[in-house]
This record gives sequence, structure tokens and C-alpha cells, in this order.
Amino acid sequence: MSTAAVIPAAGRGVRLGPGTPKALRSLGGIPMLVHAVRAMTRSRAVSLVVVVAPSDGVAEVQAMLDGHGLPEGKDIRIVAGGETRQESVRLGLAALPEDVDIVLVHDAARPLVPVEIVDAVVAAVRDGAPAVVPGLPLADTVKQIDPGTNVVTGTPERALLRAVQTPQGFRRDVLATAHATVPGDGEGATDDAGMVERTGVQVVVVPGHEEAFKVTRPLDLVLAEAVLARRRA
Ligand code: CTP
Ligand code: MG
Repeated sequence: MSTAAVIPAAGRGVRLGPGTPKALRSLGGIPMLVHAVRAMTRSRAVSLVVVVAPSDGVAEVQAMLDGHGLPEGKDIRIVAGGETRQESVRLGLAALPEDVDIVLVHDAARPLVPVEIVDAVVAAVRDGAPAVVPGLPLADTVKQIDPGTNVVTGTPERALLRAVQTPQGFRRDVLATAHATVPGDGEGATDDAGMVERTGVQVVVVPGHEEAFKVTRPLDLVLAEAVLARRRA
């Protein structure tokens, strides 16, 4: 029995602006994806990392990882991704060997997640939760709107909301069933836990971490560089 991490890294990073695919962009001189792989391998629980690369960038990602001296004793594999995040995760799952019973799914775009969060997610799954997501309370009040008119239709109680992060952790069978039965991105599930919810399986939230934020827009890169600089000081 073992724990594997799947890292979807096949997105283009459209919201970050033109340039290299997001996961391959540099953060403190090191590609974002390398940070993300290291963040997973820092956890003693994780023995295998499957990186899901842009379909036209598998060789480039392989060379990039080889060039950055990844940790000894960890199995790192690369597979080609798909058109959507969901498809990329599915392709990553298909590459897992049989003995894997716990799967983490971690965005390459969350390069700075502390190992404590990775360990806490694995521990919660090992303790019996079928699906676990790290999450944080929201700073902003959230409004629901009618997208046609921009009229506010509701204000969910903020204290009951959590902004969820990755790695999300799952019993392998639970995640595999979700990916085999829940329809694609267009139907609304924007994360793996959302797919699992649709299969009727309970998802539990554990405390997330501010530094596990997702690099999505240009300002996030500024923040990520600042966090790294502070760590290195
Ligand atoms: N991802 C993926 N395959 C896709 C789309 C996304 O593996 N077809 C990955 C991204 O590489 C990223 C993670 O899913 O690590 C989270 O997605 P997001 O932050 O939305 O990244 P992008 O899709 O690359 O960014 P954008 O939506 O701005 O284009
Ligand atoms: Mg995206």
C-alpha cells in the first residue's frame, strides 16, 4: 500500500498572460513545477509523483526535472495531459501502479504549499476519511448573482464558507469512481473534491495554509516571489 501524488501541470496559464506554460515558469530561479514536485516529495508518505505535462511538452518537462536534481528514493513519472484539468487528472490516475491506495492531487500552480499540509491531508485519509481538502476561511464576503443582470440573488453566510486548496487527498477507489462517472468540466465540478461530492461520498475539510495559494494572475507571481524571498532570508 502506498501514497502517490498526481500533479496536473498541463494548463497554459491563460490568466497569467502570454508566455511559457504556467507550470514551467520560473519562481526564484526554479520552475514552478519543480517547486510543486519538491513540495510533494518532502512528505515521507509520498513515494511516487506523477507529473501531468502539456501534451506537446513531455520531453521538455522531463529535461527540466532531470536538470534540477530531484530527491533520491522517490519515483517520479511524467505523462501527457489533456484539454481540461479533469482530463489531465484522469490521465495521471491511469498511470498509477496497482499498489497505490491513497492519491493526492496537487496543482502545479500551488508551488509553495508547506509539507505540514501535505502530511495532514494524508493523515486524515489514513485515519479513514475517503476525501480530504485543505481549506481556509474567506476574507471577502461572497455574493451570488444572476449572471445575466448582475443582480445579487443571495449572500451565503461567510462563516460557513471555505476556500479550498490542494493537495486534495482521496482513497484511490473513491477518486477513480468519480473520474469514471462524473461528467466533464462543463458540468461544473472545478476540483476533484467537487466530483467526489457528486458521487455521494463525504468530503472533509482540514485547515489549509496561506502559502498554498494558487498562482493564477500576475499579482500572484509577485506574492509567490515575496514568500520565497522571505523563506530564503
Ligand atoms: N491543468 C492541467 N490540464 C489542463 C488545465 C489545467 O493539468 N488542461 C492544471 C494546471 O497546469 C494547473 C492546475 O491544473 O496546475 C490548476 O489549473 P489553473 O490554475 O486553472 O491553471 P491553468 O489552466 O494553466 O490556468 P488558466 O486557467 O489561467 O489558463
Ligand atoms: Mg485553468
